[in-house]
Amino acid sequence: MLIPTPKHLTSTLFLINLSFFFLIPIIKATNETNWPELSRRQIIARRSQRDLSANISISKLSLTGVGLSTTVFNDFGYNQDTVSQVYDLLNVGVQTLYVDLYWNEQMNKFQLCPFQYEISTAVNQSETATNEDGVSCLRSLTMNDLMSVVQSYIVESDTNLFGDLVVMILNLYSLNDTSISYSQDLQGTWNDTLSSVMTSYFNNYLYTPTALQSERTTDVNNTNLIDGYPRLSKLLFTEKKRLLTFINQYEIPLYSSYNVSNDNDLFFNISAQNSSIIPVLETSDIQSSTELTAKASQDWLFTIDSINSHLQFSEDSVHNLITNGYSPILNHTIPEISDIATIFGNSLWSWGQGEPLFVTEAMKRYSNDTGYIQEAYKCASMSLNGSYQVANCYEEKYYILRDVHDRLNWTLSSQKSSYFHIYQVSDDGDADNDDKSKRKFNVPKDSLERMAVVLYLNSLENVNFEDFWIDLNSINVDNCWVTGGPYASCPYEIVSSNRNFVEMLVAASLCCLILFVLMASLRLRRVPIRDNRKHWKKLMNQYSTSDYDGVPS
Ligand SMILES: *[C@@H]1O[C@H](CO)[C@@H](O)[C@H](O)[C@H]1NC(C)=O
Ligand SMILES: *[C@@H]1O[C@H](CO)[C@@H](O)[C@H](O)[C@H]1NC(C)=O
Ligand SMILES: *[C@@H]1O[C@H](CO)[C@@H](O)[C@H](O)[C@H]1NC(C)=O
Ligand SMILES: *[C@@H]1O[C@H](CO)[C@@H](O)[C@H](O)[C@H]1NC(C)=O
Ligand SMILES: *[C@@H]1O[C@H](CO)[C@@H](O)[C@H](O)[C@H]1NC(C)=O
Ligand SMILES: *[C@@H]1O[C@H](CO)[C@@H](O)[C@H](O)[C@H]1NC(C)=O
Ligand SMILES: *[C@@H]1O[C@H](CO)[C@@H](O)[C@H](O)[C@H]1NC(C)=O
Ligand SMILES: *[C@@H]1O[C@H](CO)[C@@H](O)[C@H](O)[C@H]1NC(C)=O
Ligand SMILES: *[C@@H]1O[C@H](CO)[C@@H](O)[C@H](O)[C@H]1NC(C)=O
Ligand SMILES: *[C@@H]1O[C@H](CO)[C@@H](O)[C@H](O)[C@H]1NC(C)=O
Ligand SMILES: *[C@@H]1O[C@H](CO)[C@@H](O)[C@H](O)[C@H]1NC(C)=O
Ligand SMILES: *[C@@H]1O[C@H](CO)[C@@H](O)[C@H](O)[C@H]1NC(C)=O
Repeated sequence: MLIPTPKHLTSTLFLINLSFFFLIPIIKATNETNWPELSRRQIIARRSQRDLSANISISKLSLTGVGLSTTVFNDFGYNQDTVSQVYDLLNVGVQTLYVDLYWNEQMNKFQLCPFQYEISTAVNQSETATNEDGVSCLRSLTMNDLMSVVQSYIVESDTNLFGDLVVMILNLYSLNDTSISYSQDLQGTWNDTLSSVMTSYFNNYLYTPTALQSERTTDVNNTNLIDGYPRLSKLLFTEKKRLLTFINQYEIPLYSSYNVSNDNDLFFNISAQNSSIIPVLETSDIQSSTELTAKASQDWLFTIDSINSHLQFSEDSVHNLITNGYSPILNHTIPEISDIATIFGNSLWSWGQGEPLFVTEAMKRYSNDTGYIQEAYKCASMSLNGSYQVANCYEEKYYILRDVHDRLNWTLSSQKSSYFHIYQVSDDGDADNDDKSKRKFNVPKDSLERMAVVLYLNSLENVNFEDFWIDLNSINVDNCWVTGGPYASCPYEIVSSNRNFVEMLVAASLCCLILFVLMASLRLRRVPIRDNRKHWKKLMNQYSTSDYDGVPS
């Protein structure tokens, strides 16, 4: 008689799970440029890139941005509809908002509209005012309407899975048309300065220069900081901050009614951070390791395009800027707001377009032409052009090693290995015998580390391979890409203790065994299963709606 040992149970469980797996409808690849939402694949790719950069300084991230006045408001109007599209921009991965704000000297308030207009009981508030350039402004629109949309995005995405940094770059101007006057009840008060408004909308989410100053003095061991700024994951998940605000242009005259006194505590002065937003013409591609080192010492490398057609960002130029360490800000007019999704369609420095493939897709694409009997499409390789892609962990490839002290010094292994074997060879991940303690299997964690690898590849002669292993896999949980070798676990898994897990496994396996026996006996006895259909259907539905691939997206 067969006494089920844990091993048997596990394999039975595995078989049964497998049979369920094939019954679950295969997830369809969704439209990659859907507006205003990202496809499931894009969400996974962005999250994976964010997680790779967990220990990277926030000043070295690759962010995409939009100049709201030029790209959004001037053409589509300053109204509630357009303001609510800012939510969609953030939702498709735009992380930098480049915003013009106008201090209305006569009203003592900031406004989004670039010109002054009458607001009085004699004028209908739901109507728009239009200036000579054809820009139209809803009279009742205020700066608070924009901040409220940004706030709702930040609050709604404030989870481990979706939370990411938002950067607001503000240009402050002053409007002073003495012929217009506003009644007393429309006048701004002490709480209409920028600091009051931003504090009331973003208080807990705002990372301030004051906080940075104090961290720089207390964090002597660089636990939270690196290169003078917070590490991304520390900022988002330890300090729970989401928003950082820069003041770029400050064109409010000294004698203005604007009270600037608290601004320097809350907002970063972009030039005081040794940064500026440079025009596309002043950007340069990295050609040598000297140029790479120079760029790696800079912070907040923003670049902005312009209306000149040959300088306007396209999908390709955005990708090129991102891989050269810049954060591009879109500043030209576009036919539809949704076109932004196309222009930024290839704005990740890590995963290539259409990656990461889901396991079933990778099987379909690669199964035919690899000679490997065993297949596990749960590991990532880097192609010669620098982009990441899903590959079969059993394949033998060279793998990339990083100098332990220099994040820009990368070399390839001298031997090929399957992904699993890289770690078995040696604890420190270096199968090469020459300099074990100096180099480790690793993965580029920001655009410049990636560029360092690309420069190294360009320096090689006789390249006879197409891709090589990087330390990035989803072996633990499908679609949850982690670094740290094959045993690295997915941080988003529901954690249960080992003991519970064994108990659960035994219980679940017994359950499955009984079901299996029932199914088998039903078959043998040729009993019509119609009576049971509803029950089965319910079971199946429960299965297909349960979180079978670990990470929701
Ligand atoms: C993606 O969606 C856009 C807009 O809805 C549509 O024009 C395009 O044809 C779709 N592409 C695919 C591949 O379905
Ligand atoms: C970040 O650093 C922590 C602590 O040093 C480490 O455990 C973690 O694996 C690192 N994560 C990444 C993605 O580099
Ligand atoms: C104000 O204008 C809106 C839109 O033009 C219109 O629907 C509304 O009836 C007007 N209200 C008044 C009081 O005129
Ligand atoms: C400013 O104060 C007024 C009343 O004093 C209040 O109605 C308004 O909501 C406040 N604005 C902000 C941004 O807190
Ligand atoms: C910094 O590191 C040193 C040596 O490891 C340790 O003694 C000290 O307590 C650390 N300081 C802080 C603030 O963690
Ligand atoms: C606004 O214009 C008036 C009249 O030209 C001038 O006296 C005043 O100084 C100006 N105020 C600001 C802040 O520019
Ligand atoms: C500006 O604001 C600060 C702090 O809120 C306040 O102490 C100061 O009196 C204000 N200055 C003016 C001129 O209103
Ligand atoms: C920002 O910093 C620059 C240089 O440090 C300084 O000239 C400028 O006045 C500052 N701007 C503001 C608004 O404080
Ligand atoms: C900016 O550069 C100057 C001179 O190189 C340096 O003294 C200062 O510390 C830098 N500031 C920041 C915030 O990095
Ligand atoms: C953004 O575009 C507008 C409109 O073409 C232009 O006036 C402005 O100077 C641009 N901003 C920058 C920083 O180039
Ligand atoms: C595998 O390749 C063969 C020959 O190239 C082709 O006929 C067959 O359709 C392919 N099968 C799949 C599943 O792609
Ligand atoms: C890169 O690191 C290796 C050891 O990992 C070292 O031998 C080599 O000198 C380093 N190259 C540079 C340019 O620092």
